[in-house]
Amino acid sequence: MNSKDTQWANETAEKIYKKMKNSAERSKNKIPYLTVNGIFDDCSDNISWWTNGFYGGQLWQLYNAYGDEIFRLNAEDIENKLDKSLMDYMGMDHDSGFKWLLTSVANYRLTKNERSKNRALLAAANLAGRFNLSGRFIRAWNSWGGERNEGWAIIDCMMNLPLLYWAAEETGDPRFSQIAKAHADTASKAFVRENGSINHIVQFDPNTGEMIGTMGGQGMEIGSSWTRGQGWAIYGFALSYRHTGDEKYLKTAKKAAKYFASNIPESGLIPVDFCQDNELDWEDSTAAAIAACGMLEIETHVTEAEKPFFRETAMKLLRTLEEKRSNWNTDTDYILENGSVAYHDEKHNFPIVYGDYYFTEAVFKLCGKELFMW
Ligand code: GLY
Repeated sequence: MNSKDTQWANETAEKIYKKMKNSAERSKNKIPYLTVNGIFDDCSDNISWWTNGFYGGQLWQLYNAYGDEIFRLNAEDIENKLDKSLMDYMGMDHDSGFKWLLTSVANYRLTKNERSKNRALLAAANLAGRFNLSGRFIRAWNSWGGERNEGWAIIDCMMNLPLLYWAAEETGDPRFSQIAKAHADTASKAFVRENGSINHIVQFDPNTGEMIGTMGGQGMEIGSSWTRGQGWAIYGFALSYRHTGDEKYLKTAKKAAKYFASNIPESGLIPVDFCQDNELDWEDSTAAAIAACGMLEIETHVTEAEKPFFRETAMKLLRTLEEKRSNWNTDTDYILENGSVAYHDEKHNFPIVYGDYYFTEAVFKLCGKELFMW
């Protein structure tokens, strides 16, 4: 890394630390998702919400890097609260990696807490139990209000597979990684289009396993390119390569990353969907942060000649976020502005907790402060 990038990363890490230390004092007992007037909301009453691990993950990153007890205590509080979700069948879905890798596995990695290990193994077993043998995919979501979605799989699930790789390594039981690899194999065929863009939802017949079609999901429409989904694919496939050494996952991650890179607008700001009308100012800063983490992961696995492309793309995304979309005012809790949950939502361009998580992870990677979570 050139010295200017190193200096930038170190300075940005210090700004993250200062901001989040201040915010941690007033965020005790909270599980943030969004903000109200710049202050974190609290998802404790919606305990199975898929984002409930991200703030805990950011706190563990901060604890690992700086050692302040408040980060550990707040993270442990979130992990304890998540037990209610572990005991709720309908609250458990394909997103268990997001919830328990960033809380229990992080805690276990740092402290060897056996209770945390047990929680994460229970979550991994539940995730493995969602595998559809005919279609060789992990089922997304649960059926709410009579919706028949037993045959749906989503690209986001790629980011949850590391919970299975971790469980395989921890227990020595290959079933976990066999299921993760089977899902990744299906995803690399069913989700990735010829040009490297990604489907959000793929529908299979849950009985025969036959692929029925695709859905636009949180993107604009069928065939469009939801940018956060691109990010999940870039980072998710790169992580499956890291855990398995199977070259086809690295190839897939690079293909998705090159599509993403070639669509970054001049401004460096990422839209909600790469196919959206140029007139729309709907952005997704979270997609930029996730994709940057994925690019940095790919960089570690490619040849010297290929490294600069992935490093420079990540730096462009991260520096743009820092220069144009970060709030360093210590009277507010969030860092990144202008995230969006989905193209068809009524509201766009607001802070979302996972944007801050991935931005923190990326910056900490660059200055050697990262706690590896995946
Ligand atoms: N995993 C849901 C989302 O990315 O919004």
